Amino acid sequence: MTHAGHFVLSPILISDLLMALCQWYFKAKMTSEDKRRTDYQNGHVPFPGIKAYVDPDTYEDPTQAVHEFTKEIDPSRIRIERVIGAGEFGEVCSGRLRTPGKKEIAVAIKTLKGGYVERQRRDFLREASIMGQFDHPNIIRLEGVVTKSRPVMIVVEYMENGSLDSFLRQHDGHFTVIQLVGMLRGIAAGMKYLSDMGYVHRDLAARNILVNSNLVCKVSDFGLSRVLEDDPEAAYTTTGGKIPIRWTAPEAIAYRKFSSASDAWSYGIVMWEVMSYGERPYWEMSNQDVILSIEEGYRLPAPMGCPVALHQLMLHCWQKERNHRPKFVDIVSFLDKLIRNPSSLLPLVEDLQRYRTADVLVKH
Ligand code: ADE
Repeated sequence: MTHAGHFVLSPILISDLLMALCQWYFKAKMTSEDKRRTDYQNGHVPFPGIKAYVDPDTYEDPTQAVHEFTKEIDPSRIRIERVIGAGEFGEVCSGRLRTPGKKEIAVAIKTLKGGYVERQRRDFLREASIMGQFDHPNIIRLEGVVTKSRPVMIVVEYMENGSLDSFLRQHDGHFTVIQLVGMLRGIAAGMKYLSDMGYVHRDLAARNILVNSNLVCKVSDFGLSRVLEDDPEAAYTTTGGKIPIRWTAPEAIAYRKFSSASDAWSYGIVMWEVMSYGERPYWEMSNQDVILSIEEGYRLPAPMGCPVALHQLMLHCWQKERNHRPKFVDIVSFLDKLIRNPSSLLPLVEDLQRYRTADVLVKH
């Protein structure tokens, strides 16, 4: 164990009564629908009434996917106002989008800078082809694309509070537990939608969640492999893959087994980021130490002020056996129950720890 691991991580206490209760809850929720969903993720029976996600790379001509899944916007409808960031392909700006007969809306505009080669244009527009297939209040909404004139642009809804990690760091300690759980509920609902569509995100992290003025959180950053190339947190593994180690399930790191179950592991890390107001998971530990500690069974401890029920849910998401992790449908309904019964959020992990140290007869 590294010195960092010694100080900051605590072993999982499997015998914990609350863990057992949490596990019981999720086992009991394993319905036949979950079974069908699992089949579907394995490429079998599609859901009646739910459109399956289509990978734009399966099109011989990816431009066809752009036509199929996105709307072309006349650039005269767009007013660019200011630069708000830098993307891998060019500037990200804020601005306004006019639609005849509708109220003007605030938008974010990603641009593809000049001098690109065909492959860069295709990679840039791949994200729009993916986003354009989704329609959910917790998934960033694509307004459309500009491909018939220069610069090439992707236009999405504007999210006033920017990305969740920096938003939380700027507002350390400012929210109620219910507000934080509300954000987590939204992210889980977005992820449930994506997993129902058969889409695996692979880079779920607070930096890839956007927050609007009503504190609604939306999943963003789509684009499969490109997403990982774009992510400063992604590191090369010994097998040459680029992976955001601290957010990624062990089987995805070890043999690239990405699935909705590996997204559930990442969701547990996002829960931890949210409850700690944007703390870096595993702090200053090296990627290699993170991998070894996880393998030895260590897990992140509860952030300060974290309700027991939420830390138990995180631990559930971080089970080594991926089939034992909760499904997003279960996570959403568990968080809904906590929100409906706020007293369930009162026991905090530090209170429980104080109680345990006081009672020498407690056995684990
Ligand atoms: N930065 C990147 N995308 C954004 C969006 N949709 N709204 C606000 N800021 C962003």
